[in-house]
Amino acid sequence: MRTFLRSILARLKPSQPEVDRTGFDPHAYWLNRGKTYERDFSYDPRYTEQENALGAILGRLDFNSVLEVGCGFGRIGEVVERLKPGIDYTGLDISPDQLVGARRRLPNATLIASPLEDFQPDRRWDLVLAVEFLLHVPPDRIEDVVAKLKAMSAGHVVTLDWDTPVKGRIAPHNWRHDYQRWLGPRRVAVSTAGIYHWQLGDAL
Ligand SMILES: C[S@@+](CC[C@H](N)C(=O)[O-])C[C@H]1O[C@@H](n2cnc3c(N)ncnc32)[C@H](O)[C@@H]1O
Repeated sequence: MRTFLRSILARLKPSQPEVDRTGFDPHAYWLNRGKTYERDFSYDPRYTEQENALGAILGRLDFNSVLEVGCGFGRIGEVVERLKPGIDYTGLDISPDQLVGARRRLPNATLIASPLEDFQPDRRWDLVLAVEFLLHVPPDRIEDVVAKLKAMSAGHVVTLDWDTPVKGRIAPHNWRHDYQRWLGPRRVAVSTAGIYHWQLGDAL
C-alpha cells in the first residue's frame, strides 16, 4: 500500500524540479560563459559516447551541407568533418569567444556569431544540427526555435539533448523539453540524452 501511495505521489510531482531563475538572461549567460567554456570543458566518456552515436546516425543520412546551431568550440563540427571531409559546414553561435576555438578546429568552415533568434539566412542546409543546444532554450521559446530549425532545413534536423527526468536540482540554464512533441518519434538514447531525427515531410 505504501509503495502504491509513493508511486501516485511521484506521478503528481513536477518532472522538473523548481529552479530559481530570477533575473536569468540566457543570452548574457552564454556570452559570458563562452569566454571560458572551452578551457573548462572536461572530456568525459559521455561525450565520446555522444559523438559515436551521432556519427553513426549522421553516417546513414544523405547530406552535402550542414548548419550547426550552437556549434560552440567546434567539438561536433569535427565529428561532421571526419565523416565528410571538406563538407559545406556553417557553424552558428551567440558567443564570438567560442568561435575562436571553432575556427582553430574547422579552418574552412563558415562561422557566424549571432543569436539564433536574430539569424535570417537566405538559404537552407541539407542537415540542421543542434547538440546540447535546445536544452538551453527557455520553454516559452522552444516552439519557435524548433520551427526555425525545421524552416532552415532542406532535409534533416538532428538534435541531441538531455531528456530524461531528474530527481535533484537542475541548473538555471537547463530545461528538459518534450522533444518527442516537437521532433517526432525517431529517438535514439545515449546515456541520459536523446538524439532526435526529424525529416522534411514528417507529419507531427
Ligand atoms: C552546451 S554548449 C554546446 C556546444 C556544442 N554544440 C557542443 O556540444 O560541444 C551550448 C552552445 O549554444 C550556444 N548558444 C546558447 N544560446 C544560443 C542562442 N540563442 N543562439 C546561438 N547560440 C546559442 C552557446 O554559446 C554554446 O556555445
